[in-house]
Amino acid sequence: MGERLRGKVAFITGAGMGIGREAAVLFAQEGARVVVADIDGRAATETVARVEAGRGEALAVTGDVAIEADVERMIAEGTRRFDRLDVLYNNAGVLWKDRDRSVLETDGPWWDRVIAINLKSAFWVTKYGIPPLRRAGGGSIIMTGSVSALVGFTRAQDAYTVAKGALISLTKSLAIQFARDRIRCNIIHPGIVDTPLQAPYLTNDLRREFQAGIPLGRIAHPREIATVALFLAGDDSSFMTGAELVVDGGFTAG
Ligand SMILES: NC(=O)c1ccc[n+]([C@@H]2O[C@H](COP(=O)([O-])OP(=O)(O)OC[C@H]3O[C@@H](n4cnc5c(N)ncnc54)[C@H](O)[C@@H]3O)[C@@H](O)[C@H]2O)c1
Repeated sequence: MGERLRGKVAFITGAGMGIGREAAVLFAQEGARVVVADIDGRAATETVARVEAGRGEALAVTGDVAIEADVERMIAEGTRRFDRLDVLYNNAGVLWKDRDRSVLETDGPWWDRVIAINLKSAFWVTKYGIPPLRRAGGGSIIMTGSVSALVGFTRAQDAYTVAKGALISLTKSLAIQFARDRIRCNIIHPGIVDTPLQAPYLTNDLRREFQAGIPLGRIAHPREIATVALFLAGDDSSFMTGAELVVDGGFTAG
């Protein structure tokens, strides 16, 4: 077990799978107690089992990050169990390439739902999560952007892109507002990561096409994003706030 998050409590949304699950396991290995928040209760319970298998401590809470009452309750359940909150990791997100496309092809209700899950969730999580961070004397907020917010794509997911772009602005605003409370806020922009989110779309052809466009020549493992989140969650990044970390194998450097 490491020590980098010793004594800290982390609330991670979308921790039932993919990057969030990797982060939950990794944060626990570094001494954090973890609130595993997910809309999929079975997935959250499985993540908790993996944390416990590594002799870590975690609590599964189930709800929809787009719904205010769910987020308020999940944060309350976490703070009740662990007494404090030090890290808010806004990781939950959806990529629905069939329903969220160009503005010309997307229906209004799908636009609203994608924005609610990917963007409004961060509003609810910080609205209810910042007060416990303040009570703890400070903390770290981690947002999840995407390379989609940084460059345009001809195969568009415009609602997803807009949500991720707006999170950059929210990151900077929160960083400035709460710096004096010793609350830092930073955003990670992952490139393509091998998770259940991408699985339905990663045909062999598309995988080859993506890999050809990534200077490091491959898609990321979710742990390669979770390690960056660990850095932002802990004191190794104590002088960083309002920053954007691009973790994309060099994709946007080209
Ligand atoms: N995988 C990639 O290539 C990639 C690239 C850039 C950014 N991202 C971002 O990283 C984050 C994590 O992505 P991932 O690939 O691990 O996704 P994933 O689909 O593998 O896991 C996401 C988790 O979020 C949960 N979730 C979905 N909707 C929810 C809701 N309304 N309320 C609560 N939980 C909900 C899911 O049940 C799932 O457990 C997302 O914000 C995503 O946009 C991923």
